Amino acid sequence: LKANFCSDNVAPIAAEILSAIVEANADDAVSYGEDAITLRLRNVASEIFEKEVAIFPVVSGTAANGLALSQIAAPFSGIYCHEFAHIVTDECGAPELFTAGAKLLPLRSPDGILKPSQVSDAVALAQDMGVHHVPPAAISITQATEWGTVYSLDQVNDLAELARRHGLRIHMDGARFANALVHLGCTPAQATWKSGVDVLCLGATKNGAMGAEAVVFFDPVLARDFEFRRKRAGQLLSKMRFVSAQLLAYLTHDLWLSLATHSNAMATLMAEGLAAIAGARLLHKVQANEVFVALPDSTVAHLQTQGFGFYRWPVSAVAPLTAIRLMTSFDTTVQEVRDFLQSAGEANHVQRV
Ligand SMILES: Cc1ncc(COP(=O)(O)O)c(C=O)c1O
Repeated sequence: LKANFCSDNVAPIAAEILSAIVEANADDAVSYGEDAITLRLRNVASEIFEKEVAIFPVVSGTAANGLALSQIAAPFSGIYCHEFAHIVTDECGAPELFTAGAKLLPLRSPDGILKPSQVSDAVALAQDMGVHHVPPAAISITQATEWGTVYSLDQVNDLAELARRHGLRIHMDGARFANALVHLGCTPAQATWKSGVDVLCLGATKNGAMGAEAVVFFDPVLARDFEFRRKRAGQLLSKMRFVSAQLLAYLTHDLWLSLATHSNAMATLMAEGLAAIAGARLLHKVQANEVFVALPDSTVAHLQTQGFGFYRWPVSAVAPLTAIRLMTSFDTTVQEVRDFLQSAGEANHVQRV
């Protein structure tokens, strides 16, 4: 079977996390998140983020985002985000449903990273329009972004400063937060609340969990009544300990960082190999575990015939090039990347002869 680079969602469960689920299965436990594992998760999360946090496990990133946004954005308010943010393009209107109608205000930027100047222009427009425009409530940023790029700490800080000036909150969609953290090489605290992030959706599923995400508030006051939102949304699992066990294992012994380090390294290896193939054009910086590359149509067709898994990506790569996305994960092997590169190189060579 050839390697599957379609998504990190195709990866299995990391052994340590699967073991933690099995261990949590040893006995009866209190239900609905009052169990010892969930309590321990709260303490560990507070240690890791160097601050008392309010952490709420849920089972999907979509639920995490929708719920987090509903806590910081009124039904008649607006949320700035990138035009290709997952909350806009891939969540079937869940953020609008969970917030009971807040409007997502998409902004354009070629590298997936929102710039303070464009947000401040958008805020000025909203102010000009008065009652006819939704009052902005939040800026949602994705870390790592949908283009596999990573906001620097300065970039997050600058947005947060602007947000504070206008009374906006910062939501971070961290479906791939560990991949970003590894790239930044900073502490979890620096990457979040010390840079002005109010609420983080901390992903684990894409980086080795079975199904576990967490909404993390850095000011417990901001989390007021959040447990009711989570319950009402069907995200308070009766057997919560199995979700918490995944998150606890994920955050213990730096597992999340070692899984993401490997995943990122595989993407870098892929990118370096592709850069050496004539005719290939990398479309974005590779800073996490995603590679966007334009390849000759015939090379893409060849790779597909060979059985490699990946998606063609609907961006403006001009024929005879096709843009594709290659995503690596904690279980991608060096051999899989090499096989892919070899096939890509062969196809290219044949085409050139
Ligand atoms: C950036 C980002 N945010 C959030 C999600 C949430 O995903 P799900 O609801 O499928 O768990 C995803 C999944 O692909 C994602 O890529």
